[in-house]
Amino acid sequence: MTVWRTSPNLALDEWVNRRRAEGASIVHLGFGESRLPVFAPLVEHLMAGAGANAYGPVAGTLAAREAVAGYFTRRRLPTHADQVVLAPGSKPILSAIQHVVPGDCLLPVPCWNSYAPQVRLAGGTPIGVPIPSECGGVPAPAALREAIRSARARGLDPRILVLTLPDNPTGTLAPPVLVRELCTIAEEADLLIVSDEIYRDVVHDPATELLSPAEVAPHRTVVTAGLSKSLALGGWRIGVGRFPDDARGAEIRAGVVGVASEVWSNLAAPMQEVARYAYTDPPEIRERLAASARLHGAVARAVHTIVVGAGARCRPPTGAFYVYPDFEPAREALAMVGVTDARSLQRRLLDEFAVAVLAGDALGDDPRALRCKISTSMLYGDTPEQQEQALACADPVRLAHVAELLARIEDTFTRLCVARRPAAVR
Ligand SMILES: Cc1ncc(COP(=O)(O)O)c(C=O)c1O
Repeated sequence: MTVWRTSPNLALDEWVNRRRAEGASIVHLGFGESRLPVFAPLVEHLMAGAGANAYGPVAGTLAAREAVAGYFTRRRLPTHADQVVLAPGSKPILSAIQHVVPGDCLLPVPCWNSYAPQVRLAGGTPIGVPIPSECGGVPAPAALREAIRSARARGLDPRILVLTLPDNPTGTLAPPVLVRELCTIAEEADLLIVSDEIYRDVVHDPATELLSPAEVAPHRTVVTAGLSKSLALGGWRIGVGRFPDDARGAEIRAGVVGVASEVWSNLAAPMQEVARYAYTDPPEIRERLAASARLHGAVARAVHTIVVGAGARCRPPTGAFYVYPDFEPAREALAMVGVTDARSLQRRLLDEFAVAVLAGDALGDDPRALRCKISTSMLYGDTPEQQEQALACADPVRLAHVAELLARIEDTFTRLCVARRPAAVR
């Protein structure tokens, strides 16, 4: 029997929650969940949909698919309902694509921890390609060309390229020029692009342009997205897929619907009503999305300032709710307390400071590197009132309950990296 372990981020989250239930005070920076209350109108629509207890169409109701098509169309991606699939989260859609499209899969390194296991589950081989120094979520173009060449030389058959825009774990958004270059390579190498845009509504500065590969290479790009991150609905499991508007797109979509029909049947019927409402982009949803993105940005930038202040290298965050520091500059100081790689960094932060982060190697990164993922989206308060207050506040990092957590994080990284250095180099 093949044993599949629980995904490291979900396992860490469950462990932290168990420890907290036992009374431990842990700063949880180890899980990418937007810890904000459910927006009240979404609850009303869930209740309105509660009477829907038929299974319904596998791809989603026509009303929900039309709403999703409208959402993409308003974002420069003309879409009709027949190109859309709804599912319980974007995760199953991402997984189904791996089963439907044969061949091996190119992934940025580091990347979200479920892509590689999903490729393996489908019988493919994940091929990691390093990201550029300025941003993550995409492979560096020269490295991608080389990875394709050497994979083919080894007998592999790279057919899918996954991009994450904006990115988990680096919290950055690849600029349009880079997206165009990668689309050109995908064209040359005949790759299907899977553009994971689950964070597309979590770009911190509304002036920042998100160019989807589906705008550049519409016939070879599948987009996945959902409401888990932007509207803090992870547990409601609403995900969507948008497939190319041509025969191959229809074929891939039909394959995904086929997998869905055998594995999850459909998105829960009441959730289809929630999706229908949210994806029509009413003004109150747009405001909620904008306020959430502002808050995620403010807190991610504050944590970025802290880790850089402690001596780490770190790309400035521009989207999603993560920072991905590299503590290489502090290697000597860290070695003095036995921190020599990603795992011992994670362990030390947990054991000495009760701060949970995810080790970089869980994201496909070099295990020897002193890198970890810090999720910044669970620092908005313990109660819905505190979280709403953070959302409404012009300067949330100054709110007492947010500032207190940030101070604890600053103290942690300062004590970990700086305080032990010889006084002469502090
Ligand atoms: C990059 C990325 N893609 C996909 C997902 C899956 O999200 P969901 O299945 O909730 O839509 C996540 C969740 O952590 C993610 O970070």
